[in-house]
Amino acid sequence: MSVVAYNKLSVAKITELYHDLHKKYDAFQKMGLRLDMSRGKPSKQQLDLSSGLLDCLSHDDYTSCTGVDCRNYGGLDGIMEMKRIFADILDIDVTEVLVGGNSSLSMMFDNIASNMTHGVRDGIPWQRQGSIRFICPVPGYDRHFAMCDYFHIEMIPIPMKADGPDMDMVETLVSGDPLIKGMFCVPIFSNPDGCVYSDATVMRIAGLQPKAFDFRLYWDNAYCVHAFNGEVPKIPNILRECEKVNNPHMPLIFTSFSKVSFSGAAVSAIASSASNCQYILKRMNIQTVGPDKLNQLRHVRFFGDVQGVRGHMRKMAENIKPKFDAVDEILTRYLQGKEIAWWSKPNGGYFISFNSLNGCAKRIVQLCKEAGVTMTPAGATFPYGRDPFDSNIRIAPTYPTLDELKLAMEIFCAAVEIASLEKLME
Ligand SMILES: Cc1ncc(COP(=O)(O)O)c(C=O)c1O
Repeated sequence: MSVVAYNKLSVAKITELYHDLHKKYDAFQKMGLRLDMSRGKPSKQQLDLSSGLLDCLSHDDYTSCTGVDCRNYGGLDGIMEMKRIFADILDIDVTEVLVGGNSSLSMMFDNIASNMTHGVRDGIPWQRQGSIRFICPVPGYDRHFAMCDYFHIEMIPIPMKADGPDMDMVETLVSGDPLIKGMFCVPIFSNPDGCVYSDATVMRIAGLQPKAFDFRLYWDNAYCVHAFNGEVPKIPNILRECEKVNNPHMPLIFTSFSKVSFSGAAVSAIASSASNCQYILKRMNIQTVGPDKLNQLRHVRFFGDVQGVRGHMRKMAENIKPKFDAVDEILTRYLQGKEIAWWSKPNGGYFISFNSLNGCAKRIVQLCKEAGVTMTPAGATFPYGRDPFDSNIRIAPTYPTLDELKLAMEIFCAAVEIASLEKLME
């Protein structure tokens, strides 16, 4: 049976469909479900893949390859083997990376805080320069936006295209406004679109000529090893590209093992020019006695090297990919061709970005909630929680079991159809 676009249906047909769908939805509601799809959390099976981390050190195994006793103070920049793993993942030198604690977000937060109060490389503190702004590609990651909001940084939303942020807009804004001090980028399997920036986009970002002398690129490479087919996309190296255009200190790369090993107990890294790393170390020296080197050593023993990480991520993909396929299959089965829904088909990362008819996203999330399925709040993928079209919803397939996920997506599709028909009946 061929599918008809809903906006081509007669009023009588829309009314009939609406009543049929409501019967289906009411039956879902009676099931009394409690399914949480609100955040991109790994499932128990994913975490189990890293169980070996819990017992991979022994009583006499606490020394790094350079002779550092990992039980003791010191080693601010991280142990050499862990730096090497991050450097190999990011294709940079070990002098360009510092290993942190369990969260890359806290390193981003700290970097912004430092620039606010102490300025970039001892320059004028951002907070003394006026009302500063960041470029925020949308849809984007809610915690980036929350950070900006916390520091009273005005967010300028820039639409994401298939190959990254709209660079015409970014270039015009950044080159004209000295108060635009930063830009968030998730260059590989972006959150939530799953987009990979094209080579041309990366080069244009590297070649930005900011009006602000102290502009910084927050290059959040959270998903740089998270490919589904074993092939991590190769994009130009942002440190090298920025060097070529004489802007070596602009990029700050962040990444972590949060979605590689244990989300709450992993290791993170910041990477930048060797000279930026020295500035960051000066601050860290005052902040802390050093990172948890035993956890770094555990990761080194468990993963071995970058090839070990890639092998682990292939096993991870065997767990995650069927869930992404199931979401795509169910969305296609119920929504394709009706012209009420569009969604991304990423080759990696953690999310699927879903777009409804304008003005329907909040209603869809509400209908899901009332049937026991908690989605990421509509609007969360935009600064200030405000999606101007009320259409984007982030789908996070990893946490539920496959059966739970399939049921949740059936309910989601019913909610999409109901909300769309309501909109068409207005
Ligand atoms: C784009 C992005 N950056 C950072 C993070 C969190 O990183 P971490 O756990 O290292 O703080 C996430 C988690 O969802 C993310 O999607």
